[in-house]
Amino acid sequence: MRYAPFVKRLENKGSRAWEIHGAGLERIAKGHDVIMLSIGDPDFETPSGIVEAAVASLRAGNTHYSWIEGSPELRRAIAERFHRLNGVAVGADSIVVTQGAQGALFSAMVCVAGPGDEVIVPEPMYVTYEAVVGAAGATLVTVPLRGERGFHLDPADLAEAVTSRTRAVLLNTPHNPTGAVLSRDELAAVGAICRRHDLWLISDEVYATITFAAPHISPATLPEIADRTIVVESLSKSHAMCGWRVGWIVAPGELPHHLYNLGLAMHYGLPSFIQTAAIDAVRSEDAAAAAMRETYRTRRDLVADRVRNLPLLDCVVPEGAMYVMVDVRGTGLASETFARRLLDEADVAVLPADGFGPSGAGYVRWSLTVPTPRLEMALDRLGGFARRMADAGAITAR
Ligand SMILES: Cc1ncc(COP(=O)(O)O)c(C=O)c1O
Repeated sequence: MRYAPFVKRLENKGSRAWEIHGAGLERIAKGHDVIMLSIGDPDFETPSGIVEAAVASLRAGNTHYSWIEGSPELRRAIAERFHRLNGVAVGADSIVVTQGAQGALFSAMVCVAGPGDEVIVPEPMYVTYEAVVGAAGATLVTVPLRGERGFHLDPADLAEAVTSRTRAVLLNTPHNPTGAVLSRDELAAVGAICRRHDLWLISDEVYATITFAAPHISPATLPEIADRTIVVESLSKSHAMCGWRVGWIVAPGELPHHLYNLGLAMHYGLPSFIQTAAIDAVRSEDAAAAAMRETYRTRRDLVADRVRNLPLLDCVVPEGAMYVMVDVRGTGLASETFARRLLDEADVAVLPADGFGPSGAGYVRWSLTVPTPRLEMALDRLGGFARRMADAGAITAR
């Protein structure tokens, strides 16, 4: 049987990044005590009040068809949250609820880009972006994020990548895998390029509540580009609710209408008991999100301090999100070889960062989403591994 060309475009070369994760799971199945630092699923439980709200909603019979674009109350709550966190008012009419940020990225992309269009994405980048751009039929154009710049985008690279076919720029701040958080000036520079060339700016802000230095800034708060900025958010990271699949888009212009039609054709809306619980989550956010952020901060400091004092290794201290880019260039090993050996010889699973794009070469992504004592154990193992490598190098050099 024949399949549509679409299926080819969904094939995701980025999935190579996950091979070590799979190998780690296999080792666990064989009885090894592997510390899995290869995934970004928070180790916290969803706050119990939110779980109770979902259960109560189920018991109250909220099991029927619901609002495709999200219930009016949920959309109002999300609009209020946006105002609270960003200081800028958006109408509930601009909010469309999706299946997590992933559903939001897909929906936004297929509504704004198509065959013949180019979408510019800085790399290393989140592994699903390639398939999302491909699904729309558009061409992915990457620009490098360099370790020497703390993986902050150089707007000159972006300007150089723009062609007459460019339709959109896809940004992610705070950034996975690098932890870079873009400043207002950096966003304004990107915004100026988008305005000059009449481009959409899709802003993936799933890690908005997890910043350690300067607070997150949404490009939608820059008045000059608010009308072309599409904000993607979710409850996955802020509330440890990855499995609930609640996300949304803050959509300008007529985009909510197109997203509605897409939802009608595809998913028919999120389950209504999930939407009810999401209202609670969005309204009761601040304490839960702040507690998680402070835990990630402690873990970040722990990892950065320890890694920087190890032989052959260094790291880029993340400004946000839940990962540390460990610089393994001093070992002389490629990222993938390093990650493979760390798994085989020390039972710690991390992802080779060049699986997220070539500019990640020489780094591995170390996740902060395991309990702190386990993280300390992983650092002990990393330390032993690095010292053994350094000693072996010293012997070879002698
Ligand atoms: C940058 C980025 N965008 C989107 C997602 C998907 O998030 P969600 O679970 O809300 O679909 C992730 C998940 O790790 C991510 O890291």
